[in-house]
Amino acid sequence: MLIHKTPMRETCGTLTEYWYAATLSKSLKQSKPLSVVIMDTRIVIWRKRDGTAVALRDRCAHRNVILSKGEINIKEDCIKCPYHGWEFDQNGECVNVPSEGESGKAFNNRSVETFPVIEQEGLIWIWMGSDKQPDPEKKPFNMPFYNTEKWGTYYMVTDFDNDVTSLAENFMDVPHTVFVHKGWFRSRSRKQVDATVERTENSVLVTYHQENDAIGFTDRILNPKKLPLMHTDNFYMPNNTRVDYLWRKDKHSEPDRGFVITSTCTPVSDLRSRVFTCISYKLGMLNYMAPLWLPWYTRQVINQDVDIMANQGQSFREAPPKFKSTQADTLHLFIESLRDYEASGQTLKKPSQRTREISFWI
Ligand code: FES
Ligand SMILES: [Fe+2]
Repeated sequence: MLIHKTPMRETCGTLTEYWYAATLSKSLKQSKPLSVVIMDTRIVIWRKRDGTAVALRDRCAHRNVILSKGEINIKEDCIKCPYHGWEFDQNGECVNVPSEGESGKAFNNRSVETFPVIEQEGLIWIWMGSDKQPDPEKKPFNMPFYNTEKWGTYYMVTDFDNDVTSLAENFMDVPHTVFVHKGWFRSRSRKQVDATVERTENSVLVTYHQENDAIGFTDRILNPKKLPLMHTDNFYMPNNTRVDYLWRKDKHSEPDRGFVITSTCTPVSDLRSRVFTCISYKLGMLNYMAPLWLPWYTRQVINQDVDIMANQGQSFREAPPKFKSTQADTLHLFIESLRDYEASGQTLKKPSQRTREISFWI
């Protein structure tokens, strides 16, 4: 007898009560089913004739076959199971059971679960909460500078063999950049870095106080006006990170040049995640050339993280995490505390607001 582990969706407390990115808008075609897995839950999404997206549990109510391998009845906006032809409409209602002939219509006790869907800024988002009414206070994460004048943006989609907490920490972690991305992004300079780390109710905000930092390609090309480089790394519950490198006079002025790397991590399973990374850039005259090299460059850098995250994920498979931490890991501890609190169904002690000054060497 096959033993099933309890699906993540039933064991991750209130982490379900959020919108999660399921796919890129451009990957979802009209009347063509697309299957995704979020929190061990297979979901089928398709676009109806009017172009809007619908999402149903990708599991037939009859004998549990994967519905997305069937086809869409375009006229009725229904999905048809490939096994015995049962059809389910956009509300998950079973509207046709061919083996029951004309009487095989509309049995509501044969329905499949539906999921609220939103399309926003080039992504299809799914509400994973058990309540079908999404919390109006919680919105899909906004991608900074998406469709903003003078800025370019593109998405990258990457699968990682690790959990969301570790990935959010990796995307915010500075000390690894001089090892994992040595020569690609930042090289070791034996410099001291000072930063302020703040934990709020639902975010971890890190501001670096190092105005002579240099990233990737040369500062000369990107920063002709010799403006200070402002670097902030922020985490927003439950799974979003936003890394800003902005050259600007002060923190209130319009950035002259900049990169913003925003990642939203979708948990597929305990140690498997799909990350949607939005890269926004403002490079002045170089903007029109960026598509020729920037996607390639960011792909190389992300693949270096894919490897180190797979390494750590394998270690977690072999034994549970047991960490030693330094000052540079303060933001990791803050992220873990916020996510653990929600994963416990908010039964742990609520993490308090806290600000720490930290200092480390890269
Ligand atoms: S399993 Fe889907 S119709 Fe039978
Ligand atoms: Fe990295």
